[in-house]
Amino acid sequence: MPDLTTAIRGAFFDFLDDPWKYPGREHEAARFVGDGLLVVADGVIKAFGPYAEMAPRFPTVPVTHIQNRLILPGFIDGHIHFPQTRVLGAFGNQLLDWLQNWIFPEEIKYADRDYARAAAGNFFDALLAGGTTTCQAFTTSSPVSTEEFFEEAGRRGMRTIAGLTGIDRFAPPEFLNTPEQFYTETKRLIATYHRKGRHLYAITPRFAVGCTDEMMDTCARLKREHPDCWINTHISENPTEVRQARQEFPDCRDYTAVHEKHGLLGPKFTAGHGVWLSNDEFRRFARAGAGVCFCPLSNLFLGSGLFRLGRATDPDARVRVSLGCDMGGGNAFSMIRVLEEAYKVGMCNNTMLDGSVDPRWQDTAEAERNKLGPYRAFYLATLGGAHALYLDDVLGNFQPGKEADFVALDWNAGQHAMAWHQSLIAGDGGPGTIDQAAMLLFGVMACGDDRNVDETWVAGKRAYKKKAV
Ligand code: GUN
Ligand code: ZN
Repeated sequence: MPDLTTAIRGAFFDFLDDPWKYPGREHEAARFVGDGLLVVADGVIKAFGPYAEMAPRFPTVPVTHIQNRLILPGFIDGHIHFPQTRVLGAFGNQLLDWLQNWIFPEEIKYADRDYARAAAGNFFDALLAGGTTTCQAFTTSSPVSTEEFFEEAGRRGMRTIAGLTGIDRFAPPEFLNTPEQFYTETKRLIATYHRKGRHLYAITPRFAVGCTDEMMDTCARLKREHPDCWINTHISENPTEVRQARQEFPDCRDYTAVHEKHGLLGPKFTAGHGVWLSNDEFRRFARAGAGVCFCPLSNLFLGSGLFRLGRATDPDARVRVSLGCDMGGGNAFSMIRVLEEAYKVGMCNNTMLDGSVDPRWQDTAEAERNKLGPYRAFYLATLGGAHALYLDDVLGNFQPGKEADFVALDWNAGQHAMAWHQSLIAGDGGPGTIDQAAMLLFGVMACGDDRNVDETWVAGKRAYKKKAV
């Protein structure tokens, strides 16, 4: 038997709890091990702790020493579109026009296997270069795109959630699938991929505007027949879209009720955006154990609006929140840039010139919970995202038994003069304390990007190394 055990030595930073539970002392939710050892066997963490304690227990295990980096659990992206890899950064329209003008014409191409396969290579390269090791992804209405997504994820050994997209209206006819087709193809794809290797399957109604009652019923039936599967969709992203969804489902009192009516809102359900959810809808998400994915790059790029993270994190009705880049609505793959934009959204309180405040933003406790310091931010990108997606039994931190996906961040490697900038924040010597580490991480999210991602490891193996410049 080959010895598949390996170990990584370095400075580790992860989370054991939700920092929103520790207002003003968020560091109590985090853990910093300045000189640690992570022991990995067959892609799974076998032991983790200070190097001085671990090294004598594993004297024969080969050690890779990653120096001058902060090692974090791999980033988890709760909402991204594989078939939009080539159209990110499209000029000029808000959501519904953007879908018609840019997105559907591009996604139609993914019925072609060669095109989808080439795209999958580019997609996963870009994710890993940004430090993202897990994503929940949309594919298209063609099963070819779903197959090529999972095949490429499998070649890279990555844990992903994805599924065929159901859309039976509001797109060019050649892009639509009927509920019957969607049912048959989804059943086949679940049988082929769900829980094979690291693949997980999400039943995926694209959004209420694009799904008839029959399509939503089909999703409900699939969830009843496969209760272990995830559900992935969009909700309340853009005001015009919300109005249109309300017109399409006049019997539903709000957007969330569309999913309630069809029995979909519950554990393992994620809806992207949720910018325009009411307080009552947030409460119903919390009660149901459903997740919302905050996509600030996209919400700003498509002009959708400002997500109320502080409302979603109300301790009396805490919603599971992941972060997503929503590429191509989001104009980058980078979770570091997602954190930057999420921070900026949290800084807005929508005060008008006359001193009045948008009623949605009047609650000062909510405004405080919107503020995204480094602990809250990197929690959402790691353990929080895993929790929101019901993956925290296998991902999200360095606890033994979890899968060994991680990212090594170079806090000095972002834009010009970043090292000099960072030395003002945390001194020259590298992080000695958890707060110094957090300060450096804040520097990374405020001023950094993919350039700060030096290495990305998947299941205990290095999957990406930044090229020397
Ligand atoms: N709503 C329905 N489809 C999409 C999509 O592709 N991107 C975004 N941002 N919203 C959607
Ligand atoms: Zn989306």
